[in-house]
Amino acid sequence: MAVPIVLDCDPGHDDAVALLLAVGSPQIDLLAVTTCFGNCPVSDATRNALRVLTLAGATQVPVAEGAAGPLVGEAALGNYVHGRTGLDGPDLPEPAQSLLPETAVELLARTLREHPEPVTVVVTGPMTNVGQLLRDEPEIAEHIAEVIFMGGGTQGGNHTPTAEFNTYADPEALDIVLSSGVPVRMVGLNLTHQALATPEVVERMAAMEHLIGRTCAGWMGFFGSSYRDVWEFEAPPVHDPCTIAALIDPDVIEWREVFLAVELDGTWTRGTTVADLFHRYPDREPNAKVAVRLDAERYWDLVLGALDTLGAPVEAP
Ligand code: RIB
Ligand code: CA
Repeated sequence: MAVPIVLDCDPGHDDAVALLLAVGSPQIDLLAVTTCFGNCPVSDATRNALRVLTLAGATQVPVAEGAAGPLVGEAALGNYVHGRTGLDGPDLPEPAQSLLPETAVELLARTLREHPEPVTVVVTGPMTNVGQLLRDEPEIAEHIAEVIFMGGGTQGGNHTPTAEFNTYADPEALDIVLSSGVPVRMVGLNLTHQALATPEVVERMAAMEHLIGRTCAGWMGFFGSSYRDVWEFEAPPVHDPCTIAALIDPDVIEWREVFLAVELDGTWTRGTTVADLFHRYPDREPNAKVAVRLDAERYWDLVLGALDTLGAPVEAP
């Protein structure tokens, strides 16, 4: 039975691969896509989501645009990693489907209410849309099976020395989700830094002889150059598809049940997630699961298999 999901994202190179993984996997039923500011302004994230779904031949998936900024404060943007468009690199088709007139929060609420069973909410950008939904309509929680998000981490950040970009971008929204009682799984940097698009992985993408594979290889080229320049990584960590992979194959990631919090006030630590892996806060009960170990070979076989399934026929030269 396919897992029904909504994917809230800020494409973004790794979000784009997550979208392709979701569309290319029969174990996933992608009910809707919503967009958020993050890797780029939300208008660009939306355009990128529509173009990736067009590339994947998934124009039937409804898309709605979400927040242009966080619940509190100004929008942090990741164009320094993802480029001017938010998805720099290979050309993409123009969107073949139009954006819904609803907001992301409206589409999320309608999709969750209309689906006959609770839906998994996957978030691969700032938590703003889902935080707003749970703040304004807390009873929606009964329609959510879990929130699984890429963000935070158990040992250090990337946007700041301690805070990962998505949780830095809207810590209040994550705090709302953590306080909502909805089951939460966090896929943080400690996990996604094990999901490196090594030269061997990129070669497998490029060798796929179809547009999807070539496009992903091109994305990894741009994404990899950003990771080399900004963080001196030899290969880029492909963060966001880890959330989808965990839904397809429960054995691809190992989890720990912990007390998880997000710092809202620290001068130097705002947006930092605190995962109590060793029970140092005895009075704090576990409220989330955090990902701790990735089976990288299994992960890449799963991602590349889905890309090959999606692969469009090779275009005439
Ligand atoms: O820190 C990595 C996360 O921030 C990923 O989701 C990436 O796409 C950006 O949104
Ligand atoms: Ca993202």
